Amino acid sequence: MATSSLSVTDNRTGKTYELPISDGTIKAIDLRAIKTDADDFGLMTYDPAFMNTAACRSAITYIDGDKGILRYRGYPIEQIADKATFLEVAYLLAEGELPTQAQLDKWTHNITYHTYVHTNVIKFLEGFRYDAHPMGMLLGAVGALSTFYPDAKHIEDPANRYVQRVRLLAKIPTIAAFAFRHSRGLPYEFPRNDLDYIGNYVNMMFSIGGKHEPNPVLQRALEILLILHADHEQNCSTSAVRAVGSSHVDPFSAISAGIAALYGPLHGGANEAVLEMLEEIGDKKNIPAFIEKVKKGDGRLMGFGHRVYKSYDPRAKLIKRVADEVFAETGLNPKLEIALELERIALEDEYFIKRKLYPNVDFYSGLIYQAMGYPTDYFTVLFAVGRLPGWLAQWEEMLMDKDQKIARPRQIYTGQDERPYVAIEKR
Ligand code: COA
Repeated sequence: MATSSLSVTDNRTGKTYELPISDGTIKAIDLRAIKTDADDFGLMTYDPAFMNTAACRSAITYIDGDKGILRYRGYPIEQIADKATFLEVAYLLAEGELPTQAQLDKWTHNITYHTYVHTNVIKFLEGFRYDAHPMGMLLGAVGALSTFYPDAKHIEDPANRYVQRVRLLAKIPTIAAFAFRHSRGLPYEFPRNDLDYIGNYVNMMFSIGGKHEPNPVLQRALEILLILHADHEQNCSTSAVRAVGSSHVDPFSAISAGIAALYGPLHGGANEAVLEMLEEIGDKKNIPAFIEKVKKGDGRLMGFGHRVYKSYDPRAKLIKRVADEVFAETGLNPKLEIALELERIALEDEYFIKRKLYPNVDFYSGLIYQAMGYPTDYFTVLFAVGRLPGWLAQWEEMLMDKDQKIARPRQIYTGQDERPYVAIEKR
């Protein structure tokens, strides 16, 4: 009869061990009992980049990469993107359920009334050079917020955690918008509490002389893009938030670690790389030669392929629809034609079919952001604003998880054996 366990024979000793299996995993710590003798530390696993290690239990986001499924708290991303607002999604991710009207009103009210930042934050931002990268500004300013709210260190108090989550959701768009204005040499536009979350964010970025005529199609498109980025389970930046947060530091510091991780080109920067690639291709007629170059191993087709999705990224499908709506408003981005043709050719090509390489979320998002008027170095900031609800929900879940301790991986030491210190004149 099948039992939920794994029998392992250690061929060094001939001993057999039985390891329980639950949720399709064995506990790495159970391997520690496998020893050659009493002095042996015990067996460990070696898993650089956590390719096959579940580091937590999570009830927030479900992904089936083979089937192209993404769900937030059980709700399919397609339905969420179609129907929900960004703040509803933030509530859902944090609380586990969609809010009632009364809950949503309270949540929205709380976030709306924390949108202002201390004026000293503005002094920090003004200290950055005129050409400072907006993501670097966001990273620095969010880290600095912890000094304005020293009470945030009381992470053991649920009411306190709630306030800090609200503060972060309220203030990050303000700082992100100020960073946008800074890079254009424009005066900062203060939050307007009569506008909704997205409306206020867009207004702070684009208002000139206190005036901005919102385009509801573009605003909803931005909201959908942010929703599509809101969580993606244990990715690099979320793992950073969890690992740093596991030291019980305040959430402003933990979230700034997430922003730092997202700043890296392998994580948040791919849509920028897609635009550069489309620029390089320049014309539809150059696509076949470009594809041949990629197939020979000279570069990659940016915006294609994913560590988890081995079929069409469900977010990419939704983004394609958003792109149609946005380009109907803004006029066609000439690079879109190249992108569509590139996708068509790649999806028919044996190389990409065999490796299960499909467009990912970044293939079209950069084109949309560009059409909306965002400079390429601002794309990662938009990603950070979108991902914030996920970081906060995962941070809270990590703190509540009794299995969790301070994150502290093991290593295989490959350095020198003990040796005596050598005086400088003898080296
Ligand atoms: N273009 C061309 N070939 C690609 C490719 C791409 N975008 N992505 C993967 N491949 C090929 C690899 O060369 C490899 O081929 P091989 O088996 O002949 O050596 C195979 O597909 C597997 O690639 P691998 O690097 O092992 O996959 P991964 O899961 O580690 O990488 C990505 C995932 C996302 C890093 C990778 O697909 C990539 O670099 N994509 C482009 C960047 C991008 O869009 N990033 C955003 C992710 S949301």
